[in-house]
Amino acid sequence: MKHPFFPLAILAVALTACGQAPESTQTTEQAAPAETPAATMAEKPEATTSEKIDKAAEATKEAAIAVKDDVVKATSEMVEKVKSDERVEKATEKAASMVDKAKVAAADMAVATGIVDDPMVSHTTRAVAGIKKFARTLQGELKAAMSAGGAPNAIQVCNEKAGGIASDISAETGYNLGRVSLKNRNPDQAASGWNKTVLEEFEARLANGEPIDKLVFKTIVTREDGSQEFRMMKAIPTGKVCLNCHGSEIKDEVTSKLDELYPDDNARGYKEGDIRGAFVVTKTL
Ligand code: HEC
Repeated sequence: MKHPFFPLAILAVALTACGQAPESTQTTEQAAPAETPAATMAEKPEATTSEKIDKAAEATKEAAIAVKDDVVKATSEMVEKVKSDERVEKATEKAASMVDKAKVAAADMAVATGIVDDPMVSHTTRAVAGIKKFARTLQGELKAAMSAGGAPNAIQVCNEKAGGIASDISAETGYNLGRVSLKNRNPDQAASGWNKTVLEEFEARLANGEPIDKLVFKTIVTREDGSQEFRMMKAIPTGKVCLNCHGSEIKDEVTSKLDELYPDDNARGYKEGDIRGAFVVTKTL
């Protein structure tokens, strides 16, 4: 009864009717007769596919809207759960080191290719990577010790580990890393000479309203023998947790431990936001 191409022919007529575009853009379609099955076969799959894609996109969008809130909730619950996981801390540390390494490589490349005409860039990037690693490692140890046995337990970490961490990173990077303070706890970490001057300048800059995280000093000096030295300092801000051992209301059990280990301790009475000291990085070039 019906011609096998009957529905296609109707579709082809409909398509041709809808596509009454100016001749210039539609020359090939108009040249093909509407009844020719070949022409309709060429048109149909295209239209159907794009319809399907539109429908799928619409459905995906609706589904995404429907599950969005659930996903957000589940993700934040999961993040809370894994935050305390040691593996997450390790992965975070690894990611941070990789970012620092990439920055060092980028700085080296910029200097090597002449994009940046300043060797200070490589030194500073390396020094900052070392400082960050030191800060992350020490704070990680401090946090773990504080939650394991409170401030009295954590004193031991600062006392026994801080120096070792600094010398490990120094050996690894080739940049000497340490900490100094105008009101120091460890007698070996009293600011003196040029780094005392820089810390005093940091105090003046902070008093003038400069943000504490911007207090950085860097230079390359030429010594009397003609050799050069790279020097960098970065201020260390006093955070809330630091007040347990550097504030003005320190618990008795902490005070007695500090008195025992550091009879000449000057590093008390700090307030949040004070400059606790500075990282110092040096390298003979
Ligand atoms: C659990 C006690 C404790 C806490 C909390 C603590 N510190 Fe210390 N801090 C110490 C001890 C002990 C030393 C001496 C370490 C040494 O012998 O090298 C020290 C030394 C330092 C030094 C080196 C200069 C100096 O005075 O000898 C800096 C800088 C410093 N702390 C900054 C901080 C900052 C910043 C925080 C907070 C993020 C903090 N500390 C939290 C106990 C603590």
